Amino acid sequence: MPPPTTLQLSADHFGIAEVVAPLVEPSLEGEGGLSSSAPPMLHQTPQMKRLSTPWAICLTRAEQLAQCRLADGIVLDPACGSGMQLYAYCARLGRPGLGIELDSDAALLAAANGKRVWDAHGGDWGAKTQVVLGDGTDAAAALAAAGLSERPVAVLHVDPARPQDAQRHSLDEMQPPLSELVGSWADHLAEGPVGPAIIIDLSPRLSDAQREEVGEILGARWQDSPITWEWVSKGQGRIDRLTVWFGGAADARSPARMLRLLTDGSVVRFAGESITATTDISSTPQPGQWLTIVDSALLSSGLQQQWLRKAISHRSPSRWLRTDGRRPLLLTDIPLRMDDPKVSSFVSTTGEIMSQAKLPPNEAGIESILVSARSAYLARLTLRCSLSPGLQPILQQALDKGLKIHPRGKQGFLIDADTPDGPGWFICRVP
Ligand SMILES: C[S@@+](CC[C@H](N)C(=O)[O-])C[C@H]1O[C@@H](n2cnc3c(N)ncnc32)[C@H](O)[C@@H]1O
Repeated sequence: MPPPTTLQLSADHFGIAEVVAPLVEPSLEGEGGLSSSAPPMLHQTPQMKRLSTPWAICLTRAEQLAQCRLADGIVLDPACGSGMQLYAYCARLGRPGLGIELDSDAALLAAANGKRVWDAHGGDWGAKTQVVLGDGTDAAAALAAAGLSERPVAVLHVDPARPQDAQRHSLDEMQPPLSELVGSWADHLAEGPVGPAIIIDLSPRLSDAQREEVGEILGARWQDSPITWEWVSKGQGRIDRLTVWFGGAADARSPARMLRLLTDGSVVRFAGESITATTDISSTPQPGQWLTIVDSALLSSGLQQQWLRKAISHRSPSRWLRTDGRRPLLLTDIPLRMDDPKVSSFVSTTGEIMSQAKLPPNEAGIESILVSARSAYLARLTLRCSLSPGLQPILQQALDKGLKIHPRGKQGFLIDADTPDGPGWFICRVP
């Protein structure tokens, strides 16, 4: 491994790469604020493009970090890629940064990208910000190359590369590997009253055991520091990011945090204690009650109780009929407060139960389901239950055809739920 090389922020490094982050506004140059709708025109190689953090997420995190009490010092990203996240922090906090990158193309472009963000947002952080082409797990060598000494790092953020196409992978397969990274940097992190500030971007597919392992790597070194696990979703039940905020970067009152990024740039946030939801199928749902398919990302965070408190009055009963899979299902006696975006952004579908299907959704049962849907005056009944992929379009077509008689009727859905008597299918009307 050649010795690390230091690069100052400069447009001179631009050259070989394609521009991928689109400029929504014609130019960001001269704009004072950071905006999620106007990503800076940063340069990335195709490899960096695949790995880079969406600008809206970079900004949301920078805003969150700005609320934390940090020690004096720089922001470090020892695997900085395009540098987007690093510079979002630097610009928001007004602090110099140090990016380290093993890949020479990425390091050059990161140094050029830094100049873009600095020019756009001003401040004096850029003059002291550097990118080191080298190994992020060799803290001593990188600091020597950058001319930094003592404990210069106020915040360590890292987003390690993960093996591609692997459903499951071990923590050591992340590049750079976490334990090595933490071991190498621990003595160079400035510590506040609750330890150093560390933010680690992890695979959304990490198992609970692997999450524990991450907690242990950090906890072994700083026993009493708080930890906040954060789930970020852009919708459709997908978890886009799983991040651990540790020590000075954590919210000591909230071991868990759920962020839903909305398309208008706003963020819906829940924070608190993570509690695993339990199912209750002790009685069969009845007409007049409400069934809601809830975003599975919310249940992954364990913050569904906080959401539920916004969704219905705390005096009104509710229970989970299903908590796992892609369609967690909630039963309530009353409709949810869907006019509140904090509620609706986690709802996939909600509707009032009109009836329970007498027969299962198959070719023999579809006629009886159609009769019930017609008497509920539905213009469409969308199948939201588990069906074989071959059967689904056939049944949906039969329903669409059979419900043409009520073109002005309401929308509905058919959902499956376990009952004390086995599987049940419910015809629901969307309000
Ligand atoms: C997931 S990417 C980071 C993406 C970055 N957050 C962004 O928004 O562009 C991980 C980066 O770590 C780099 N990397 C892997 N091992 C490294 C090491 N030992 N030292 C420095 N960089 C490393 C990879 O080249 C890759 O660019």
